[in-house]
Amino acid sequence: PGETNWDGVPLHFYKGVWYPAFAIRGAISFQQHFIARDTDIILASMPKSGTTWLKALAFSVVNRSIYSPKETPLLTTPPHDLVRFFEMDLYLKSQLPDLEQLPSPRIFSSHSHYETLPQSIRGSGCKIVYICRNPLDQLVSYFHFVRKFKGENGKRLSSIDEVFENVSRGIQSYGPFWDNVLGYWKASLERPEKVLFLKYEDLKEDITFNLKKLAEFLGIPFTEKEEKDGVIQEISSLCSFDNLRNLEVNRTGFYQNTGPSNSNFFRKAKVGDWCNDLTPSMAERFLKIVEEKLAGSGLSFKVSE
Ligand code: A3P
Repeated sequence: PGETNWDGVPLHFYKGVWYPAFAIRGAISFQQHFIARDTDIILASMPKSGTTWLKALAFSVVNRSIYSPKETPLLTTPPHDLVRFFEMDLYLKSQLPDLEQLPSPRIFSSHSHYETLPQSIRGSGCKIVYICRNPLDQLVSYFHFVRKFKGENGKRLSSIDEVFENVSRGIQSYGPFWDNVLGYWKASLERPEKVLFLKYEDLKEDITFNLKKLAEFLGIPFTEKEEKDGVIQEISSLCSFDNLRNLEVNRTGFYQNTGPSNSNFFRKAKVGDWCNDLTPSMAERFLKIVEEKLAGSGLSFKVSE
């Protein structure tokens, strides 16, 4: 395979990864030029796995001593503008971005595979937080996202069958799914101080536990006083789906004026929503493929509530 435009966002296959064609130059430029600082925090994911949520959570945890929940920039700025993507945003222009001026700790995000990250990220002391979602909900979320995005551009909308057939073959933005996930999974086992592997379904089940885990991993654990004062609760409420989705800034507008509307990043946020679009036999078929690809890794997914 070389190129495809099955989902209205043409994809380009390069060194084992399907990139959105519009982002490939940005991805390569990022891989070649980004210089990490030891204090950097990189949020990584497959698209449609809870990236927006993780951005809001990490931003809030890191900046909790600077902004109270009443004055946090999250109230007026979309998460994607606060934590910017390397490939689809910062490195998209022909001129390299000036990231030197940004104060530490800088927080960035990436959909790139672990193996393709710049050496300075893998080799420095910076930390990586990966969020993974079960493959069925990720697929269905991707299907709806692409349709909306495509709808905005007035192009033909793909059917679930088309998206399913392609995603089953690994063809989707930053896919194959299994390769994207596996790289970070293995890295998190080999270097737990460097890579934290989170699951969307776990965050839905116990946000407090996972916020603590995130803060500890980042080297800024919540103090007893903060816990007593309800800081964890404040952050989880601030970043909850209902709260973020209903903020005026996330209901309209375009992040960085280039991507799809901010509102497209908030749909249902349910575990197990795939059953509204996939038949049981489609789900079974796809899970079997993913299981085979992940065999022996010890990674498993929760696909229903
Ligand atoms: P659904 O399409 O299943 O609703 P990403 O941010 O990686 O693009 O992922 C988008 C998915 O995360 C969407 O899933 C969206 O609804 C969900 N989501 C967005 N914000 C969320 C939040 N604060 N809490 C939980 N889920 C969220």
